[in-house]
Amino acid sequence: MKISPFKIEEWMNRYESGALYDLSGTCIKPLTINELCGHAGIEAFDIPLDYGDITGSERLKNNIKSLYTNQELSNITVTHGAIGANQLVFYSLLEKGDEVVCIVPAYQQHYSIPESIGADVKLYFLKEENNWLPDLDELSEIITSKTKLLCINNPNNPTGAVIPNWLTEEIVEFAKKNKIWILADEVYRGLNLIGNPYSIAFADLYEKAISVGSMSKTYSLPGLRLGWVCAREDLINEINHQRQYNTISVGILDDYFASIALERKNWIEERNFSIMQNGIETFTDWLTNESLVECVIPTGGTTALVKYKKDIKSRDLCKRFQNRTGVALLPGETMEMEGYVRIGYCATALKQALELFSEYLYQL
Ligand SMILES: Cc1ncc(COP(=O)(O)O)c(C=O)c1O
Repeated sequence: MKISPFKIEEWMNRYESGALYDLSGTCIKPLTINELCGHAGIEAFDIPLDYGDITGSERLKNNIKSLYTNQELSNITVTHGAIGANQLVFYSLLEKGDEVVCIVPAYQQHYSIPESIGADVKLYFLKEENNWLPDLDELSEIITSKTKLLCINNPNNPTGAVIPNWLTEEIVEFAKKNKIWILADEVYRGLNLIGNPYSIAFADLYEKAISVGSMSKTYSLPGLRLGWVCAREDLINEINHQRQYNTISVGILDDYFASIALERKNWIEERNFSIMQNGIETFTDWLTNESLVECVIPTGGTTALVKYKKDIKSRDLCKRFQNRTGVALLPGETMEMEGYVRIGYCATALKQALELFSEYLYQL
């Protein structure tokens, strides 16, 4: 099966690890095992290194269930990150010829995997003037009676926009009326800057909505490679059937550390919030004083999509900037957004890196 190159992942593989300062990433500084176990008072492990529970331990699934209002253990399966979760959802739900509408910019998986399955994929581009939020009138012009699946990412990577709960409810009503499945990639759920950090989960509102979550962003543990799908039972059964071929289990250590972390989620949330608050303040100060860029200020997630007022392709801008300063940015083109760069506002050394970006923009 042929599939398009995954532009973000290819860029990150090449440019992220050698960076002096990394503004291209999406993670809040990952926790160490010592920090996690220190907080949990765990000094030694006596864990048999077997496969563990195949679709996730009862302890872990109970902890995941507590993130939702309307779910049972039978509505949850554990996957290799959200990336594994999304892939399993597409493989379980879609067939050649199905119509899929993807709200973009978003994670490329959402459109490239359906395309590779032979689905008829339509992209609906969010607009800056609408604060990067979906507009139902516009969406209804794209959706047809053949549309099977709508893919949404909330909070959104790269814009940092959070769909307000009232709009989530309207989207759900719209999907119900049109009998459309929703895949809600909610890996940044729990990272709202304003009000309740957790938006409503789509799966709690509608039996044809699927919520995907992960330990990578909200719980600062991307190294665990642990995500999940929360959906109605017949779809979870189909996913588990597909899952036999590429997962077995996620690994007993990932399951164990994820359980510990979710049992201490308040502590992780406080840590996140303080990093996010500092980051957004620094970022907003920079925006206020930097006339060569424009940006809708994020209301959640970990990233912002910044438009630059220079006539240069985003890949060239990011490459030359990193060559000169060592600072990594993500070109908007890797997310179908030419003329923009993505900035991770939770990055360490954000202020210094943004100052270097300003200096560079002035020299261009
Ligand atoms: C929207 C979105 N979905 C899924 C993923 C993959 O997450 P995970 O590390 O849980 O596989 C990412 C990673 O950046 C993401 O931004």
